[in-house]
Amino acid sequence: MTWLITGGAGYIGSHVVKAMTEGGERVVILDDLSTGTKERVPDGIPLEVGTVLDRALLDRVLREHAITGIVHLAGKKQVAESVARPLYYYRENVEGLRNLLAAAVDAGVTRFLFSSSASVYGMPDVDLVTEDTPCQPMSPYGETKLAGEWLVSSVGAAHGLATASLRYFNVAGAATPELADEGVFNLVPMVFERLTAGEAPRVFGDDYATPDGTCVRDYIHVEDIASAHLAAARRLASDPSAALVLNIGRGEGVSVSEMVAVIQDITGIAEPAPVITERRPGDPARVVASAGRIRDELGWAARHDVRAMVTSAWSGWTLRH
Ligand code: WQD
Repeated sequence: MTWLITGGAGYIGSHVVKAMTEGGERVVILDDLSTGTKERVPDGIPLEVGTVLDRALLDRVLREHAITGIVHLAGKKQVAESVARPLYYYRENVEGLRNLLAAAVDAGVTRFLFSSSASVYGMPDVDLVTEDTPCQPMSPYGETKLAGEWLVSSVGAAHGLATASLRYFNVAGAATPELADEGVFNLVPMVFERLTAGEAPRVFGDDYATPDGTCVRDYIHVEDIASAHLAAARRLASDPSAALVLNIGRGEGVSVSEMVAVIQDITGIAEPAPVITERRPGDPARVVASAGRIRDELGWAARHDVRAMVTSAWSGWTLRH
């Protein structure tokens, strides 16, 4: 098989490319470089620069590279931005996906792996979120991911594609310092930024119904996310009838306060102590995956803990700052 990895020059995409090539898969990258960078593309891996909104480009790339499978990671993923710009998010994440699926069907591509997100669940009121937990997204970003899953599922059934939608929980860490996330939109880099500026890390609320009052999340190393993609791709390659929706998480909740303590320990920047601020609107108290289905379907389980995530993320931060 030859896999087209859309968004393969991005933070998560470059890790998926690394895992799949090291796993012996042939890959081609399509990326518009709006957030991805050429530096993340390994030597020898073809890079096509452009957007999934460009149908003519898709037809050429699928044909010239004889693509037989697609891993679709390209998309916009900032929750707050999606609230301000729903039209942009639906165009990029839903119209882009629809365009890609139409090109895939016309080109005879038979495997499709879709990057989804735990944000499809919204505010799940359960201890562990299973794939059967009701999906009530709280943001246009989450809506686009849920709509994307429906689109993938319907097109797969109608046109005989083996499909998998992978719901990422909170991604952190890096396989190498060079591949670390350059964005400062999530907890770990946001705390790095504060600590290295001599400012107190901010904890967005400590009055939630959780053990220490701060929000609990399921942090997952990006290398584990990538190895799950390789396992899913191999399953699609061997099972033409596959139609999977899978959580990718560790199944273990960690609170904001616990994460900040790990970050201050690993960075060695113990001061200033974190300050409690107002809640951030839209934050669920707890979102932690049940990882049972991916274990049963793919024989996959996460291997890295939060200390490994923070240590590797910090190596990337210090490389760039
Ligand atoms: C984690 C926790 C914050 C910064 C989002 C998307 C999700 C996925 C991951 C794409 C929350 C708290 C944060 C800070 C804090 N993205 N926090 N102080 O919101 O759980 O998930 O990103 O798929 O779809 O919804 O991640 O990293 O923004 O926040 O207290 O300086 O840390 O309130 O509880 P989130 P996050």
